Amino acid sequence: MITYRKATLQDMEDVAELHLQIFKGYFLSSFGKELVKKYYEMFLLENDLFVLAIDKQNVVGFCMGDLKGSIARAKFEETYRTALIFSILKQCICLNKQAIRKVMDRLKTCFVRKKQTSQTQSPAISADAADLLSIGVLPEYRGTGCSEKLLLEFEKLLKEKHIRCYTLSVLKENERTKSFYLKHGFTLLHSGRNEIKYVKKL
Ligand SMILES: CC(C)(COP(=O)(O)OP(=O)(O)OC[C@H]1O[C@@H](n2cnc3c(N)ncnc32)[C@H](O)[C@@H]1OP(=O)(O)O)[C@@H](O)C(=O)NCCC(=O)NCCS
Repeated sequence: MITYRKATLQDMEDVAELHLQIFKGYFLSSFGKELVKKYYEMFLLENDLFVLAIDKQNVVGFCMGDLKGSIARAKFEETYRTALIFSILKQCICLNKQAIRKVMDRLKTCFVRKKQTSQTQSPAISADAADLLSIGVLPEYRGTGCSEKLLLEFEKLLKEKHIRCYTLSVLKENERTKSFYLKHGFTLLHSGRNEIKYVKKL
């Protein structure tokens, strides 16, 4: 029987391993298991928005997020800056397109931020909001309702924190995941070049 529970720091090793199996080819995965583990640890410590699906004592799925205004990502990037820079440089030298795109995007963001004096937020995204950053289950658990249960458990945590709406981004070509989100009440917020952003009100 599959059970669902909140994640702890001790689970992060298993989560990192699972991430590398589920998110092959994703940018974060290219940093390797240790940094992926540190990444998830940072979000868990900052937000405590992390649920797991467990089958026979193995982590078979997870869903985690980030509260708006949290400094988890910045803290992760600052703490592991040297390791991240080396890894990105290595990938750029190997002509990893995703790494090169991320570097370009980051440079663009820095430039735009400098030009902006005050930041405006979309009316749909207020302070009582959050982002779902990762949801994934092993292939043999897809289409079983396991992901839906993870999403519901994740939403329970959001409601406990009085979060009224949350967003997420998905690659445009990820058809199955888009169907999953639309089936669970998400609506389109923004369609970019490579990614689509959805929002859901709770
Ligand atoms: C995203 C994920 C958690 C969804 O869980 P799931 O168990 O696959 O989801 P479900 O089966 O409940 O729903 C998917 C829907 O897509 C449909 N679908 C299945 N295969 C599909 C395909 N190849 N193309 C398009 N739609 C597809 C299903 O029919 C289903 O809708 P239905 O229940 O109305 O028939 C899971 O697929 C996963 O772990 N994917 C890999 C990780 C990932 O990409 N995560 C998202 C990153 S943002």
